[in-house]
Amino acid sequence: MNRKGQQDFDNADIESFGENKYNEKPLSNIKLANDNTKQNTPVNKSGKVHNRNSLLDGNNDLPGLAIKGQKASSSTNTIVNPVKLTFEDVRFEVTIKLSKNEAREKGTNFIKQEIIKGVSGYAMPGETLYIMGSSGAGKTSLLNILSDRASNKAGTKLSGKLMINDKNPLTQDVFGSIAGYVMQDDILFSYYSPRQALRFAARLKLNNVPEEEQNSKVESLLQELGLRQCADTPIGDQQRKTLSGGERKRVAIGVELITDPSMILLDEPTSGLDSFKALQIVRLLNRQARKGKTVISTIHQPGSDSFALFDRLIYMCDGHIVYQGKASDVASYFKQINIPCPKFANPADFIMRITTVNYPKQPNDEKKVAYLKSQYDLKLQKQIKEESYQGSYKEIDFAERKLSQASAMIQFKELLKRSGSQQLQDPQAFTIKIVYSIFIGLLSLALFWDLSGNNFVTQFGLAGYLFFGCISTLFTHMQGNLLAFQIERPIFLREKANKMYGVLPYYLAKSIIEIPVLVIQPMVWTIVVYFGVGLSITASQFFYYYLILFLLSLSSSSFGMFVSSLFNQQETALAIAPVILMPMIMFSGFFSNASTFQSWISWIQYISPIRYALEAFVWNEFGERKYASNEVDLVKFLGYKIGLATCLWIIAALAIFFRVLTGICLKILAGKFQ
Ligand SMILES: Nc1ncnc2c1ncn2[C@@H]1O[C@H](COP(=O)(O)OP(=O)(O)OP(=O)(O)O)[C@@H](O)[C@H]1O
Ligand SMILES: [Mg+2]
Repeated sequence: MNRKGQQDFDNADIESFGENKYNEKPLSNIKLANDNTKQNTPVNKSGKVHNRNSLLDGNNDLPGLAIKGQKASSSTNTIVNPVKLTFEDVRFEVTIKLSKNEAREKGTNFIKQEIIKGVSGYAMPGETLYIMGSSGAGKTSLLNILSDRASNKAGTKLSGKLMINDKNPLTQDVFGSIAGYVMQDDILFSYYSPRQALRFAARLKLNNVPEEEQNSKVESLLQELGLRQCADTPIGDQQRKTLSGGERKRVAIGVELITDPSMILLDEPTSGLDSFKALQIVRLLNRQARKGKTVISTIHQPGSDSFALFDRLIYMCDGHIVYQGKASDVASYFKQINIPCPKFANPADFIMRITTVNYPKQPNDEKKVAYLKSQYDLKLQKQIKEESYQGSYKEIDFAERKLSQASAMIQFKELLKRSGSQQLQDPQAFTIKIVYSIFIGLLSLALFWDLSGNNFVTQFGLAGYLFFGCISTLFTHMQGNLLAFQIERPIFLREKANKMYGVLPYYLAKSIIEIPVLVIQPMVWTIVVYFGVGLSITASQFFYYYLILFLLSLSSSSFGMFVSSLFNQQETALAIAPVILMPMIMFSGFFSNASTFQSWISWIQYISPIRYALEAFVWNEFGERKYASNEVDLVKFLGYKIGLATCLWIIAALAIFFRVLTGICLKILAGKFQ
């Protein structure tokens, strides 16, 4: 068919939607996927799924599979808990805020939009189920619902029934104990290699397995995923590309497969890959299914080779399911409803084109959706419901998974190791802080050289230096954390959602790894500057000077982490930081005398570490000085009344306060992101 002919054909199809000239009888010649579930995936009475030597088992597209005589590892064993997932009348509604113009037109600021419109279906163990449909059809939303990640998001409403093996309602805990979810963006820790990433996952998720066995499990998984050649190459990220897209994707899948979950959900695991790499992933998923796992994946534009390997298929269109059944039957179904697939066309592409809806929907789109839905309701819905009751699977042993979670101590140890490896591989952040301290320290010497004596000008100059030192420390440690945490944030959220570790071990490890820089940077600054600017040279004053600087560094880094935990975008965090920071600097007592702050706004000083650090510095330097009657006592002049010891306690308390606040924010954040 030429191009013009094809266009005419498409238009003719679309225009004929809704006309009542089609076969209205339920399909009889389409055999649906689970008609023979038990043939496909033999399940014995104990609920154990047997391996089936599918025609795919001989594939050697992945290097690992070409090796003969490899002993089957524990990761290639049959799984103990086959999982059937059924969903019934699932609806998902979101509240959308309208733009100003739209709000004026519609007379309301918010509208409710149904994203998933009452869909039902099932996924069986031993099979792959692919969810297809055009962009915006609701594939990811459905997948999120099937993993119970959409239930308590603000402004959304979810209804329907989701069951595991007809016995357990699907909850996050249930999902977490039997399944893994590979998100579309494979967010991985870029400094680890695939081997380290899988070992990390093994340590945290397979606590009940001895370490040696964990390692051999990792090795066989590397083999199975075809990641042997790049097992020790850092995974990399957008900036430092090392592994290819396909390899990264396989690592992300491997991290989920390490526990041998009974069910695995994947959101577009082949997007961004060429057709060969995509086929490798599809084959990998097929092999997983043949082990008895339940595989559910969304997919965009699969090639015909990939499509031929799909077991079952759900086609979505505008939040509805318009086809569900064997992938190999999809073309005949659409033929039956009078939308025949051209002879040499890839059915996946053809049906994708047919089911594409443009937004905002035109009358033809509405007609198309209504027609496809009515045909589905008529011909397939009842059958799918009946099929979903098939297969009797034993109740899941949830306690088993609980045992495999690592203790908080192991979590902490692994996280500490991981953060440490980042510091070692990328010492740039550390080096920059040290080089900055030396460079700015030397510049400060040029500017604030030898300001000793009780002369008001030199005293005030020295106070100016102390104030500048505070600001410099604040920026050095706050800014660093603002950025560092923003980069790590998606990884933390994904791993936390996967219940790999708790907020506390993560946060403790992160805080401890910071200690060297918090100790060394103020020391370098002190050594470079202290003796040149005219500060009093006594052992105790030197020690207190360093101590104040260290505590200020600590609270500044806590503060940076706190601001970073509040926002989910690096740009926002960077833009907001000065807005929060500036009032703290303004209320430090250097620009305006601390005793003259207006009472209604003076509270800002109480949360400003810089205010207490400056007062502590001033007390440390000028508090013990003896003044003649014509000289100015700088402590009195600046209106500082709290005293050195109290200030030190307050800065330390603020550091702890911001750390705790950050911990709470992380906990809330992790709770929101499921
Ligand atoms: N929380 C939400 N708030 C507002 N709209 C949402 C929300 N979640 C999903 N949507 C909308 O629902 C529709 C379906 O989204 P979904 O991500 O499920 O589509 P998809 O089929 O996965 O598309 P793609 O192929 O582009 O990934 C989209 O129009 C999306 O904008
Ligand atoms: Mg999507």
